[in-house]
Amino acid sequence: MNNIDLTNRYKSMIYRQCGESGLKLPAISLGLWHNFGHVNVYENSRRLIATAFSKGITHFDLANNYGPPPGSAEETFGKILEENFKSYRDEIIVSTKAGYTMWDGPYGDWGSKKYLVSSLDQSLKRMKLDYVDIFYHHRPDPETPLEETMAALSLMVQQGKALYVGISNYQATDAEKAIKMLREMGTPCLIHQPKYSMFERWVENGLIDILKENGVGCIPFSPLAQGLLTDKYLHGVPADSRIATSGIFLNESSLTAETLSKIAKLNEVAKSRNQKLAQMAISWLLKDERVTSVLIGASKAEQILDAVQALNNISFTSQELGRIDEILS
Ligand SMILES: NC(=O)c1ccc[n+]([C@@H]2O[C@H](COP(=O)([O-])OP(=O)(O)OC[C@H]3O[C@@H](n4cnc5c(N)ncnc54)[C@H](OP(=O)(O)O)[C@@H]3O)[C@@H](O)[C@H]2O)c1
Repeated sequence: MNNIDLTNRYKSMIYRQCGESGLKLPAISLGLWHNFGHVNVYENSRRLIATAFSKGITHFDLANNYGPPPGSAEETFGKILEENFKSYRDEIIVSTKAGYTMWDGPYGDWGSKKYLVSSLDQSLKRMKLDYVDIFYHHRPDPETPLEETMAALSLMVQQGKALYVGISNYQATDAEKAIKMLREMGTPCLIHQPKYSMFERWVENGLIDILKENGVGCIPFSPLAQGLLTDKYLHGVPADSRIATSGIFLNESSLTAETLSKIAKLNEVAKSRNQKLAQMAISWLLKDERVTSVLIGASKAEQILDAVQALNNISFTSQELGRIDEILS
């Protein structure tokens, strides 16, 4: 496809069973939170998708509000899909979500049936799709009854607009309740999408056990802590980095002396494993079989190629794990 060779796309990727479902996901998935909005260069966005797919990354993760402007990442993805991948739809897993602010008024945010059903309809139009493979509730809503939100997810599956459903950013207790409700409604929860990386380990305090016990998959997002868990900020802030170009969700205040010192030490551990730090950060999550897939972001095709190389070494010695824990403590 347009100068990217797809011939060997299934040669090296690892596919893991998502919980106890029949669905396998690639060990590395690509998220479209950044670098796919109307503000970005279309040809680069296209190249990111093509590079990922050529390496067996079959899963692309979106949300209604990704851009900027909100909605534009879905439009860009829909255009790329239509122009380049139309005949590959059945080889691709598309997910989208709703739960954060999307449009004005009381029906464009959180977790009501009114919001979720309308939002998925809008997402399908933007992506020019008949259905998504996974629809997520993006964050828990303290005001809407959990039953209403879960029933809305179940309805989407009954209507054929989503094949599977998931939840994101739910703490362990709420996740357990949501999973139980969905099971009772006859729509098993496929997957949970939490923030999880070497720098953010709350998932280990109960959530990952609950997911395993209930046969639900786990797809950690921001595995590189938005780029902090790479070697890129060790010598300043590069002009083409997320901190310099976006600065909204990640800014220079994250680069404290303490964090930079941890990054430098982790970088040494990665080198001793013949990996880049970005690769070690991905491997470190995948060492746990309960992690179905690691959801990366990328601004350049080379970052995707780097990430895929992480799969060559996803086991750690107890000394390496001990050293990493010591650095992170
Ligand atoms: N459910 C939720 O609430 C939620 C929230 C956030 C994200 N997500 C999902 O998770 C996905 C990934 O999030 P993320 O983008 O924060 O993930 P990430 O993998 O932690 O960070 C990706 C960023 O790190 C930098 N990077 C990647 N590889 C690199 C390398 N080899 N060397 C140096 N820098 C590298 C790039 O930024 P620069 O090159 O621009 O510096 C890239 O855009 C999102 O797209 C979205 O699908 C979900």
